[in-house]
Amino acid sequence: MLKTASTTAPVPSNTFLASALLNWYPRHQRDLPWRHTRDPYAIWLSEVILQQTRVAQGLPYYLDFLASYPTVQDLAAAPEQEVLRHWQGLGYYSRARNMHHTAQQVVTDFGSVFPSTYAGLRQLKGVGPYTAAAIASFAFDEAVAVLDGNVFRVLARIFGLHSDIAAPSSRREFQALADLHLPPANAAEFNQAIMEFGALQCTPAKPDCLFCPLQSQCWAFQHGQVALLPVKSKAKVARTRYFHYLVLRHGEQLYLKARPAGDIWQGLYDFALAETDSAELPAAEVLRHVEALGGQPDTRRVAEDRPAPALRHVLSHQKLEARFHAVELAAALPAATLRDTGLQAYSAAEIEALPKPVLISKYLAGNE
Ligand code: ADE
Ligand code: SF4
Repeated sequence: MLKTASTTAPVPSNTFLASALLNWYPRHQRDLPWRHTRDPYAIWLSEVILQQTRVAQGLPYYLDFLASYPTVQDLAAAPEQEVLRHWQGLGYYSRARNMHHTAQQVVTDFGSVFPSTYAGLRQLKGVGPYTAAAIASFAFDEAVAVLDGNVFRVLARIFGLHSDIAAPSSRREFQALADLHLPPANAAEFNQAIMEFGALQCTPAKPDCLFCPLQSQCWAFQHGQVALLPVKSKAKVARTRYFHYLVLRHGEQLYLKARPAGDIWQGLYDFALAETDSAELPAAEVLRHVEALGGQPDTRRVAEDRPAPALRHVLSHQKLEARFHAVELAAALPAATLRDTGLQAYSAAEIEALPKPVLISKYLAGNE
């Protein structure tokens, strides 16, 4: 058997990735407002918003939140309903509620000062490994690598990792690799750079491999497997739920209620709801539901009732198909119904100020 010519093992180089990214980043980075601050509160806000949405959509929300609540005390002291109203349109409202709780925890348990280390930040409810690493590195230069979808993709391609990135067990492998390549003196810059590289250069579809500074060192490119990486198992198929909203009007007012605790839309307002297993709800059924609520339909107007076109709303595990059945009431709903269901009559101006699921806002705006 032949022996290799060299007797000394090659020196492992863990600097190629950092050098390439730190060279690429200043020439390609987007100028984003949260990159000009070291305030952990502002950085945290930006990360919570950007976990929910893309940069272009998140930017106005970031500016609005920071203008409305310049400090963590301001956010903590705000009424939850107002915070949800500012969040409106981003979806996944439990994230806004968690954000609000976290602000209160910083105020009550940490004297309004964000913890300054990864370990300290992880004590905050709702601050996961990604957000803690982002704040610790961006605000405090701690040498801990961030791991988001962009980073998973970049690492999987460059190093040819075929582990399923949807599997929780893959996190340790990718984190170790990212930490290994993170230059301790440039943690903040490296973390921003690798995320930006994933967002702009090494994108999910059609990455710009032709003009990529890492092309010669990229396993996926060299092996023609760019389109196959990262490996990500499919989420299960979403089930469809059929929501039939009873839009009960009495005079100039509509009846709405807050969604209950434990619900994805907790604290948001919608109409009386009949959920069925069918996309259609015949007029007679609509009337039956209205009467079950003690409502007296104005018979003349009910005859004009029409099924509204379905609005599709895609959540992570389910598809909602909602229809809106407008019913004029001849009298206000009885007090017992209001007590039992939480329904209340609101004027158009009051409804405008309430936090609502996007589905409901769209219906009210008439863009069905
Ligand atoms: N996505 C998540 N965090 C980000 C950041 N700090 N900059 C740009 N995009 C991001
Ligand atoms: Fe990503 Fe292509 Fe560059 Fe590899 S060569 S790092 S796949 S952009």
